[in-house]
Amino acid sequence: MMTAKEIRDSFKSFFESKGHHIVPSAPMVIKDDPTLMFTNAGMNQFKDIILGNHPAKYKRVADSQKCLRVSGKHNDLEEVGHDTYHHTMFEMLGNWSFGDYFKEDAINWAWEYLVGVLKLNPEHLYATVFEGSPEEGLERDNEAASFWEQYLPKDHIINGNKHDNFWEMGDTGPCGPCSEIHIDLRPAEERAKVSGRDLVNHDHPQVIEIWNLVFMQFNRKADGSLDGLPAKVIDTGMGFERLCMAMQGKTSNYDTDVFQPIIKAIAAMAGTTYGKDKQADVAMRVIADHIRTIAFSITDGQLPSNAKAGYVIRRILRRAVRYGYTFLNQKHAFMYKLLPVLIDNMGDAYPELKAQQELIGKVIKEEEESFLRTLETGIRLLDKTMEDAKKAGKKEISGSDAFTLYDTFGFPLDLTELILRENGMTVNEDEFNADMQKQKERARHAAAVETGDWITLNEGETEFVGYDYTEYETSILRYRMVKQKNQTLYQIVLSKTPFYAESGGQVGDTGVIVSEFETIEVVDTKKENNLPIHIVKKLPEHMDAPMMACVDTDKRTACAANHSCTHLLDEALREVLGTHVEQKGSLVTPNSLRFDFSHFQKVTDEQIRQVEHMVNAKIRENIALTEHRNIPIEDAKELGAIALFGEKYGDEVRVIQFGSSIEFCGGTHVSSTGKIGMVKIISESSVAAGVRRIEAITGEKVEELMDTIQDTLLDIKSLFNNAPDLNNAIKKYIDENAGLKKQVEEFMKEKASQLKARLIEKATVVNGTKIIKSVIPMPADVVKDMVFQLKGEISENLLVVIGSVDGEKPLLTVMMSDDLVKSGKDAGKIVREAAKLIQGGGGGQAHFATAGGKNVDGLNAAVDKVVELAAL
Ligand code: ALA
Repeated sequence: MMTAKEIRDSFKSFFESKGHHIVPSAPMVIKDDPTLMFTNAGMNQFKDIILGNHPAKYKRVADSQKCLRVSGKHNDLEEVGHDTYHHTMFEMLGNWSFGDYFKEDAINWAWEYLVGVLKLNPEHLYATVFEGSPEEGLERDNEAASFWEQYLPKDHIINGNKHDNFWEMGDTGPCGPCSEIHIDLRPAEERAKVSGRDLVNHDHPQVIEIWNLVFMQFNRKADGSLDGLPAKVIDTGMGFERLCMAMQGKTSNYDTDVFQPIIKAIAAMAGTTYGKDKQADVAMRVIADHIRTIAFSITDGQLPSNAKAGYVIRRILRRAVRYGYTFLNQKHAFMYKLLPVLIDNMGDAYPELKAQQELIGKVIKEEEESFLRTLETGIRLLDKTMEDAKKAGKKEISGSDAFTLYDTFGFPLDLTELILRENGMTVNEDEFNADMQKQKERARHAAAVETGDWITLNEGETEFVGYDYTEYETSILRYRMVKQKNQTLYQIVLSKTPFYAESGGQVGDTGVIVSEFETIEVVDTKKENNLPIHIVKKLPEHMDAPMMACVDTDKRTACAANHSCTHLLDEALREVLGTHVEQKGSLVTPNSLRFDFSHFQKVTDEQIRQVEHMVNAKIRENIALTEHRNIPIEDAKELGAIALFGEKYGDEVRVIQFGSSIEFCGGTHVSSTGKIGMVKIISESSVAAGVRRIEAITGEKVEELMDTIQDTLLDIKSLFNNAPDLNNAIKKYIDENAGLKKQVEEFMKEKASQLKARLIEKATVVNGTKIIKSVIPMPADVVKDMVFQLKGEISENLLVVIGSVDGEKPLLTVMMSDDLVKSGKDAGKIVREAAKLIQGGGGGQAHFATAGGKNVDGLNAAVDKVVELAAL
């Protein structure tokens, strides 16, 4: 039996033997494409080639790609765990032809590989072909069908509709008919009863698609119409885990050696075995699937968070935790304990997992713990909701309560329903669905982007010249309109551009495009499928006039200084804290730099200072930049250049070197470190478990900060009459102040005891009870002290009511002797009622209570009210 690793390797060698260049998997988390958060198909990393933005270096490539289908057009999340063949993360084996071979070879080789090399039984294979679509004006893909007819009997070739047999990567862009290969893995007796043909594309767990051959020959435009694609493309994708199932004679992906070690570890942890209980099995499959997704995403630099891709990862992690919690009785963090087996299983093919094991473990554990706390709060809330419903004689809780649990506490509806069922209750599902729908619409509305088609003015390839120039003569190649949130912007692609497009943490350049007729402001530059896109609010009126593209050089220079400084900072951090420091994120703007890195404790003030000193020393050394612009990746590694996890590198890379600081980098930099001026770290904080963040400023911004600090100091100095020793002067002032405070307190106490005597003298008696009342300006603690003393001196038949003003705030204080309390009077209740006259509230015990308020003018009346309410 072939192992998963052998199957993966055999695919690559087969296509290598057919002249394909084998490329590494691109990162699963996508950084520079606004239309996609995660790689969801093998073709993603070739989108720029397929779209014609860049020529293909190799016309035939093949690979095994880590994919994630959890959001957007291709989303399998809800199925995962409930069936045996869907996954969030999976590997896609693929081969591509960019303007080279087309349908015939693609089909021939697919057949040769499956039947010739892997020896799968041809009788168990089916192929689907596109049946055509009259409304699109497309005919049946007879061409593909005729190639299949060489290998398959007619009844194993099945027509499929647009949904199944026309592949589109998104709402617009390259697309085309596809042929899927399905395999029937059922036992012979079942196959004899029902033909596999009738089960293809019918969600049968053992009659499944394994390979999709897409024949891209169209481009879908924004208005929905189709254009021909200039160079035809073959794009294939085979589900690796499904192929393993077929090859290993299993009936579930989870029974293959890809998942079994993880499943066994989960079962051992839960004290059970896989295959015993339906719900527990679902939970084990969910967890086995999700741990891969989470670990690989963190490895690729995507930490769980509250926004975008980070939120998707957080939700997946929570889904797994709650399945473990509910069905496997895992009440404490457990997922992180699966890492060693995952790494054992996949660490060879993906060494990045092993390299970051400690970080991944810490992040997962902390996320789990924090979600378990939320889960428990949610369960308490649900208990209370059920109790309230029961009290009201209901057996159903409202859909909006269930929605709050879903939205705030991450409770999927099925979890809420399960708990309700255990208590003999239900939920109003229609209400829940309505709330869910409303939220989806809000999100859709907020995210709705209307993108027009590209309008091509000039053919040609765009060229970035910004490493050498900040101004360049250019022309517009193409443009399109983008509408979002009532704002219309335009995106422009230039023939040559000095504008740096946002990437690698560095923000995009701004500036202007100037012609003899007009000046158009460029508000940002972004990258989409490797294409620099200039964002403008208004299109030039003279689109084909000769133009100059001019970058805002002040901002660019400041950015370059911050970017170079980030490299020096990275090096200094590794030196001071250790080589476990890995970049986990960075933001370089003209104003500041932000650097996130793996480290497991707070960076101390002393370490920060050490880092600053090191970087400043390198700045003063004025080390010249050595730029290796297009060097083979192997040479870059030889140089010792630091690469980033989760970054996609080609065969040739750019390396930025300042002396011993050597990094793979596409950003813009200063020509020598002296231009950075100086660095000052302004904050150090935590981003997630095991990830710290440093923010720093350089050059002029440090100067501005120094000026502010100096001005503040000078101001303070002048407040202290320019005392030569400011430290001492402030210390003396603080000491003096403390002494004075003490004196005032003593003085107050003395005054209070005089006052006390006077109050006793002035007391009135009503029905045998002594009433001491007064309105006085006194701090609250002095009043409190005094009324307790009064009670100590007069232990029976006493009511004390003091209205006092502390600062600006009125305060009502009531004290009663215990016999009055016994007779049923309550100072707390009385004070609450009387406090209304000072617009306040308060309370306390039956013998002593206070209330603060806002209205000093009402104090006298409030004091009288207390006496009245005491009803003596
Ligand atoms: N891009 C095609 C798919 O994902 C192969 O199915």
